[in-house]
Amino acid sequence: MPPEVTAFFDEATNTISYVVRDPAGSACAIVDSVLDFDYASGRTDTRSADAIIAFVQEKGYDVQWLLESHVHADHLSAAPYIQERTGGKIGIGDNIKIVQDTFGKVFNEGTEFQRDGSQFDALFNEGDSFHIGQMRGDVLHTPGHTPACLTYVIGDAAFVGDTLFMPDFGTARCDFPGGSSETLFNSIQKILALPDETRIFVGHDYKAPGRDEYAWETTVAEQKALNIHVGEGKSAEDFVKMRDERDATLAMPKLIIPSLQVNMRGGQMPPADEKGDVFLKVPVNKL
Ligand SMILES: [Fe+2]
Repeated sequence: MPPEVTAFFDEATNTISYVVRDPAGSACAIVDSVLDFDYASGRTDTRSADAIIAFVQEKGYDVQWLLESHVHADHLSAAPYIQERTGGKIGIGDNIKIVQDTFGKVFNEGTEFQRDGSQFDALFNEGDSFHIGQMRGDVLHTPGHTPACLTYVIGDAAFVGDTLFMPDFGTARCDFPGGSSETLFNSIQKILALPDETRIFVGHDYKAPGRDEYAWETTVAEQKALNIHVGEGKSAEDFVKMRDERDATLAMPKLIIPSLQVNMRGGQMPPADEKGDVFLKVPVNKL
């Protein structure tokens, strides 16, 4: 039986979070949760996370995993907030260490900021597997957008984070530190090598030109046939050229500065000062 997948769309950041349940029981995982953040006021809000918590509690689901596809640059993770209320382990790619090293430097974090991934409960590598109840999840390392990006393959469902988007929108940008369009092209080939009927759940949707509704579910077969960046006949060279040219025109995501500082810490805020106040930094002319 295929896993039951429930999507939660966050309109403020175009992020899709997922609850993935083992159809044989109550065990579930939550993929890529969102902590709402208003940058202008510096205020967090938990309404997106609370909606997911209310859903799993109403259904009586047992949250075993809080899975991050990567260190997001466009929203703050709510994984620790949800974990406190539901339990479960927070997992991310082992290359988080590289991301922590890169952004530890950008934000001039001191030695108290550990760059060993110890803020997370599990660090996954290519070929690792885990269980959600009786259901097995397999880990594909799919870097390119960032060095630590993972695809979680759970039953017939692949949670691809920011690699492929919907076929009419294409693929994720590769211009953040540590990103590479060539690497992303190769990672996408791994996803496209999954069985044709595999359901693909994307990490973001922005509505492609001509489409009025948000969408987040597609299949390997559809991506192979229709993806405007990597579908039929697109070579690695063409992809790299297109991706790099397009990335050069993109603005930084609105929440990149707070997101990176929080998400590289496993979704925790930086430590409070002696008065108990918490601050985020803005590195000037660094990103
Ligand atoms: Fe991302």
